[in-house]
Amino acid sequence: MAQILGKKNCLGFIIILQIVLCHHLSSSADCRGVSTEVVCTCDDFGHCERGTVEVDAWLQNTLKTQVEVQLDLSFYHAQLLDAHNSYNTRPYGTLYGANDTCTWPPPYNPSLCIGIANQEFSLTDLLNMGIRAIELDNWYCENEMRIAHLGSTIAQLCNSEHVLFSQPVEEIGAWLDENEGEFIRLYMNEKYDQGNDAAVNGPFERYLGDRVLTPADLRNNYNNEWPTLRTMREDGKSVVIAHLATAGTDEFYTHQGKFIHPGFWKDKKRNEFSNYPQCGGKNETNALRFYSDSTHYVFDNENIDGPTRVGIIEDFSEFVKCGIQYPGGDQVNPQLMETAVYTWAKGEPATPITDSTSCIKLSGTNSRWYTPTDCSQNLYFACQSLSDTTDWTFSVSAGSYDVNTRSCPSGYRFALPQNGYQHQKLLDSIDDVDVWLNVAPLLADYQHPTPPAPTEGRAQSLSAIVSVVVLAAVSVILVL
Ligand SMILES: *[C@@H]1O[C@H](CO)[C@@H](O)[C@H](O)[C@H]1NC(C)=O
Ligand SMILES: *[C@@H]1O[C@H](CO)[C@@H](O)[C@H](O)[C@H]1NC(C)=O
Repeated sequence: MAQILGKKNCLGFIIILQIVLCHHLSSSADCRGVSTEVVCTCDDFGHCERGTVEVDAWLQNTLKTQVEVQLDLSFYHAQLLDAHNSYNTRPYGTLYGANDTCTWPPPYNPSLCIGIANQEFSLTDLLNMGIRAIELDNWYCENEMRIAHLGSTIAQLCNSEHVLFSQPVEEIGAWLDENEGEFIRLYMNEKYDQGNDAAVNGPFERYLGDRVLTPADLRNNYNNEWPTLRTMREDGKSVVIAHLATAGTDEFYTHQGKFIHPGFWKDKKRNEFSNYPQCGGKNETNALRFYSDSTHYVFDNENIDGPTRVGIIEDFSEFVKCGIQYPGGDQVNPQLMETAVYTWAKGEPATPITDSTSCIKLSGTNSRWYTPTDCSQNLYFACQSLSDTTDWTFSVSAGSYDVNTRSCPSGYRFALPQNGYQHQKLLDSIDDVDVWLNVAPLLADYQHPTPPAPTEGRAQSLSAIVSVVVLAAVSVILVL
C-alpha cells in the first residue's frame, strides 16, 4: 500500500515538475525532441502545443508571395511545399512518436534509437510555417475512421487510441477559417480500400465544405482541366483532395468521388532526385512528389531505415529551383522552410507593394528581390518570351522602373517569374546583372495576358488582331 502511494506521489511530483518546467520556459531547448531552435509553449510531454510555434513574419509573408506568383499557373503545375506523413506527428501522442529518441538530423547517434514520427509539429504549426500540402493515412478500426502510420498488411495494429480522422480535417478547416485565400492540397494515402465512405466524406463536408474543388466541379465547371489558382480563388475553391494509387496498382480509393480526385502526380523517393537542371526527371508536363523519410525503427537495417531507404530532405532549394510540385519533407521546421525561399531578401519588401509604381529589383549578386527606394535608377527589365515561360532575356535598353515599359524585344514582355524554375531560368540568362521585375502580378485585380496558343492558335489570334485593327480603322473612318 505504502509502496503504491509512494509511486503515486512520485508520479505526481514528476508531472508537477514537468508542468512547472515546461510552462515557464518556452524555448525549444525545453521541449524534448525539437530539431531546431523554435519558440513555443511546451505541453506536459515536452512537445510544442498546437499553434504556438512562433514563425518569423518575413518567412510567412515570403512563402505566401511564392504562392501568389503562381496564381496564373494551373493547380496541376503549382508548387505546394509538402510535409511527408503530416499527421504522424509527435503532438498526437506516443502512437505518433511522442516518445521518440532519435535526434534530428541523421545519421542517428546513437543508431539504436527509435524514430516513428515523421513530424514534430502540429498541422496548424506546419501550415503557419508555409506547408500547403498535407498528407493523411486513414484506417478504419474500432468503428471509426482514424489516422495511423501502418503498413499495408498490418491494419490489425490500428486501435482505439489512434486519433480520429475527423480531427486533422477539423484542424485544417479551422486554419483555413483564419487564413482566407490560402490553398491546400490534401493527399489521402489510403493503403487499401477502407470503405465506410460516410466516415471520410462526413468530416470533409463538415469542416471543409464548399472550399473543396470536387471531381464534379472539375467536370462541370472546368471541363476536366485544372483551373489556375486565380480562378480557384475567384470561385472560392481552396482545397484539392486526392488519393494516389499505391505503387504498382491503379486503384484509386475516392469514396464515391464526392470530394476525392484520383491523384495526378507521380511519387518518387528523395533518393531518386537529382539537382537542377536534371531535376529528377521533372519536365514541363509531369507532376512529381519527392518524399523523404526520417523513420528509424531501432535497427540500422537498410531495408527499413527511412534515411537510407528513401533519403531525407534537409534543404528545399533544389526542389524549388526545379518547380517540383510536392517536395515532401520530414521533421519540417522553420529552418527547412527558409531553404525554400528564392524571392524576397531578408527584411523585404522593405517598402510595401501598393500599386504599379512599386518597383522590384532582382539582385544579380545574391539572386534575391528588393524594393529599392529609388525606382528611377537605370536598370534593364526582365523580359519573358510570350511562347516559352522558361525563355528570358534583357530589355533592349535600360531605364527607370515602368510597369508598362515597351523596351522588351519583340516576342517578349516585362514579367515576374511564376515559380522557382522560371526564376532560375531568368537567373541563368542574366548572369550577375540587376534587373527590374514586373510588380503587376502581385497587385489585386491583376489580369494575366491571355497565354499565347501554339502556332496554329497564334495565327488565329494574329488574324483576330488584324480584324480588330481593320474594324478600328473602319470606325475611325465612319466617325470622321
Ligand atoms: C512516454 O513514455 C512514458 C513512459 O515510458 C509514458 O509515461 C508517457 O506517457 C509516454 N508518452 C508521452 C506522450 O510522453
Ligand atoms: C516528361 O516526363 C515524362 C516521364 O516522367 C515523359 O513521359 C514525358 O514524355 C516527358 N515530357 C516531355 C515533354 O519531355
